[in-house]
Amino acid sequence: MNGTINFPGLIDPHVHLRDPGATHKEDFGSGTRAALAGGFTTVLAMPNTQPPLTDTPSLELAKSAACKKAYCDYGIYLGAGPDNRETASRLAARVCGLKLYLDQTYGPLRIESLGLLHEHVSNWPADRPLAAHAAGRSLAAILFFAALLERSVHICHVSRRSEILLIRAAKEKGLRVTCEVAPHHLFLTEADAPQIGPGRSKVRPRLANASDQDALWTNLDVIDCFATDHAPHTLEEKDGPQPPPGFPGLETALALFLTAVSDGRLTHEKLIARMHTNPKRIFSLPDQDETSIEVDLNDEWEVCGAELQSQCGWSPFEGMRLKGRVRRVVLRGQCVYADGQVLAAPGSGQDIRER
Ligand code: NCD
Ligand code: ZN
Ligand code: ZN
Ligand code: ZN
Repeated sequence: MNGTINFPGLIDPHVHLRDPGATHKEDFGSGTRAALAGGFTTVLAMPNTQPPLTDTPSLELAKSAACKKAYCDYGIYLGAGPDNRETASRLAARVCGLKLYLDQTYGPLRIESLGLLHEHVSNWPADRPLAAHAAGRSLAAILFFAALLERSVHICHVSRRSEILLIRAAKEKGLRVTCEVAPHHLFLTEADAPQIGPGRSKVRPRLANASDQDALWTNLDVIDCFATDHAPHTLEEKDGPQPPPGFPGLETALALFLTAVSDGRLTHEKLIARMHTNPKRIFSLPDQDETSIEVDLNDEWEVCGAELQSQCGWSPFEGMRLKGRVRRVVLRGQCVYADGQVLAAPGSGQDIRER
């Protein structure tokens, strides 16, 4: 069997590129190089930067960094904070969506107040994407607002049995809810934490148990997107006294899912739906003409964090043997990645909302 196959350019709707403010962890350059190496031609960057992206000046900082450095296409989220409940909607056309942090996370963007949440959800335009970090009972809260205001909502990194079952029930009731699951919640559990290490295994939402992981696989039809939640922190930080939560994921996601295909747990069609078609529809992303990735299905390799394009230099999947690897990426007719080398020019990536 010929082991080479073409897929559309993958879309990751959830990455942290740390630019501005923490470019020692990652920046728009290293993060989008990692994206290309992983087969992604579009990434949607989260707003929990320093400063957080909540207004025009902070958004301009991120946009000018991205414009100079990005190697693949990108969108940028606006963060919902205490001070932008009235002004956020004015920036709706320039961002890929509004991000609500309702639970334990990394960074200062966290909405505690029910009133503030109500105002943000009410004020954000109904036809613009709204994404929520919501777990446990805050998931019920955001689903209620989506129902009340008859609008869509996208739930980030679903990790638990009770949550995927609640989202299934909401979908069956006709609510306009979509969701994503991260590869680490599909391929790792809390039982893997000792081997990964005490600081390195910290992530939000936490690694769950085998029953939670089983529920995610059993309810694959409820999962609209696979999103890496690429959240790089340096090894020094992860192995230090106050390890911040987060895993890098851009360069291992596709290979993990291709390995699952090879093991008979997934199909190529289901993979493409969750890594291209569905995120493109949910976030109303533009077409990328003459764009595809070439994948070698038979390439077996071992994850080695130090060899990745990401600046953070480690992986929670260290040492894992995977089957399937990106060989080439073509973006708008240009070969931008081939056999481990990024060939694109910095700044050649486009902002999906400023075209
Ligand atoms: C994310 C980060 O580091 O920015 N960390 C994480 O553990 N997932 C924040 C987040 O996605 O909530
Ligand atoms: Zn530019
Ligand atoms: Zn989150
Ligand atoms: Zn995240």
